[in-house]
Order: sequence, then C-alpha cells, then structure tokens
Amino acid sequence: MSKKVRIGIIGLGFMGTTHFRIHQNNPIAEVVAVADINPERRKGNISDVWGNIGDADNSQPLDFSDIEVYADGLEMIKKADIDMVDICIPTPWHKDMILAGLAADKHVFCEKPICRTLEQLEEIVAAVKKSPRYFNVGLCIRAWPEYRHAKELYDSGALGKLKYANFRRISPTTDGGGAWQNWFTSYEHCGGALLDMHLHDVDQVRYFFGRPKAVSAFGAKALRSDRSVDHVIARYDFGDDILITAEGGWGAAKTVPFEMSFLIICEKATLQLNNSGYKIHWENGTVETPKLDNDTLPTGWHKGLCYFVQCIYDKVTPDKYQNIDEISDSFRMVMAEEQSIELGKAVEIKY
Ligand SMILES: NC(=O)c1ccc[n+]([C@@H]2O[C@H](COP(=O)([O-])OP(=O)(O)OC[C@H]3O[C@@H](n4cnc5c(N)ncnc54)[C@H](O)[C@@H]3O)[C@@H](O)[C@H]2O)c1
Repeated sequence: MSKKVRIGIIGLGFMGTTHFRIHQNNPIAEVVAVADINPERRKGNISDVWGNIGDADNSQPLDFSDIEVYADGLEMIKKADIDMVDICIPTPWHKDMILAGLAADKHVFCEKPICRTLEQLEEIVAAVKKSPRYFNVGLCIRAWPEYRHAKELYDSGALGKLKYANFRRISPTTDGGGAWQNWFTSYEHCGGALLDMHLHDVDQVRYFFGRPKAVSAFGAKALRSDRSVDHVIARYDFGDDILITAEGGWGAAKTVPFEMSFLIICEKATLQLNNSGYKIHWENGTVETPKLDNDTLPTGWHKGLCYFVQCIYDKVTPDKYQNIDEISDSFRMVMAEEQSIELGKAVEIKY
C-alpha cells in the first residue's frame, strides 16, 4: 500500500468534526493538521458543536496530540506537510482557502456552498480549471444513498417518462444553535436557507435533469435571519410542460424534525423519500423498498469524502459525482432564484 493521504482540515465546527471522524475511520486517510480561529476548538473541545442533522456525540474532546494545530488556515496550507486541504469554515472564506490550497499544489475538498458570490465563483472556477490538482465540493446529496439510487434508476429508463418532480428540505431554525457567531442568520455571511440549504435540492434538479433554462422563485425573508431568504419555493423551466419544483427553509421552530424528501412521478412508477423511508411505488401496485448501498459508508458525507480521498490515493480524477461545471451551474441557479424573488418574475439562468 502506498502512503496514506495526508489531510489538513480548516474549521472544526459541525462539518469539520464530521469530516474529522470520517477520515479517522478511513484506513487510507490521515488527518495530520487542523486549523480553527477558536482556541477551544484547537484544544479539541467540541462540546458546543451543533448541527441540524445527525446525532454525533460531541461530549468527549477530539485528540489532537499527534496533529499539528494552527489558528490560521492559510498558515496551515503554507507550513503543513499535506496532500489535501479540507475546507469546513463559513462560506465567505472558502474562496481564499481554495485558491491558496491549489496554489500550494494541494488537492482541495471544500464544503458547500462553493462560495458566497458570483465574483468569487468566477475566480474559483478559473483556478480549478488551471490546476492539475483535484477539486470537489461537499454536495453530499449527490452521493446520499437514496438520492443516488433514485438517480441511477431514473437514468436507466426503467421508470419511463417524467411527469412531475419535487425536492424538499425543511430544517428547524439554525438561529442560536451554536454555529460560529450565529453566522447562518447573517445574509452577508451565509445567504440564507436559499444558498446554504436549498442549494442541495437545486443541485438535485441539476443532477437529475440537466440545466433548466429559467426559474421562478418565491421567498419568505427574515424568518430567522437579518434579511435573507429563509424559505423558498422554486419552479424550473426546461422548455416543456413538466412541473419540476424544489422547496426549502429553516424558519421552523426548534422542535420540528429535519426533513429531506422527494416525490418523483414517472409513467411507470413514483419514487418517494420522506421521514418514513424511501419507496418505489410501481404502477402495477407493487411497493418496493430498495436495498441501498449504505452498509459501510452510511451517508453521502461519508461516500463523497471517502471517494475523493480514494481518488487522490489512486491518482484518478474524482468525477463520479460532480465536476466544476455542474458545481458552478447549481450555484448560478441559486443566484437566479434570488434575482427572481427580488424581481417578482421568472429569470433566465446564465451559465
Ligand atoms: N454538506 C452539508 O450537509 C453541510 C451541513 C452543514 C454545513 N455545511 C457547510 O460547512 C461549512 C461549515 O459549516 P458548519 O456548520 O461546520 O459551521 P460551524 O459554525 O459549526 O463551524 C465553523 C468553524 O469554523 C471556525 N472558523 C470560522 N472562521 C474561520 C476562519 N476564518 N479560519 C478558521 N476557522 C474558522 C469556527 O471557529 C468554527 O469552529 C459551511 O460552508 C456550511 O455551509 C455543509
């Protein structure tokens, strides 16, 4: 076996600690450096880490005794002997870390959204296209077992013609949850549920059906934030009469359970995922519970991240779940939704 992939994680919040544990359980990965601006996190104290999905036990500190610890991600990129930078800090600073990582000849995995603004996106896309190093974004729903199964089944043609599709994501409020400086409630930092959470379902529309021509979106602002779109309903125009929609928001009270769901109606079957499970309802009356590929790597976080590390290890381009053009398309679709909400009319999406 060749040497393990040496990884440096920037940001030790909900996603950074999730990634840390995934790498720890991956026999070909080794976290050799971490960076965080918070001194408590640098000591491994993660007891106040909070996320809206999963049930990680954060009561015990992480053991950084054999790991280099930095306060500044850029310094870590410069000094640490790493193959891969894993970026898990709030969205506005993704760009600086991505560009620095690629410039230092490292492979880069960055949490979604890829960045905060279209200007940042353009700089990143140019740098990724120029670099020989690998780049993926944590668009984990592309690799999430139920979604991946549905996508493969849809692509196989077994379901027949599409008639309707909806992707939906509802979260309890993130306000006061414990994220760094409550950053999910800041438009400037986060871009609201529209960019931070609904992006996953926008990306599913792109993943399943390709590029829509235009979008009409409706938003509810400032439900839990300063001035962001905290709930959105969008309809995608593919130049035909098939209704394809997505909905998402985090305006709900703290006790509302997290939900990610879809309903895809085709000629021969309806696929449904909701909090009761994932089923295929065939038109002949058979209801099937598909066997999912989730025994060893249970979630899309595990699958997407371990796949990226495996690609570095095997020296194979990581293009199974995504490429930079698709990542860019989904971001542009969200930005067009924001514009549609502002203008109160359909907006053509510029790719
Ligand atoms: N893929 C998913 O399902 C998913 C889920 C949640 C969050 N995310 C994304 O992951 C990223 C991180 O979100 P989170 O929920 O982990 O946030 P968080 O607030 O829980 O953690 C952020 C961490 O980064 C640190 N930090 C802040 N600024 C920093 C800087 N400049 N340099 C170094 N450290 C810094 C904070 O101290 C904190 O420990 C965001 O882009 C978010 O959108 C993805």
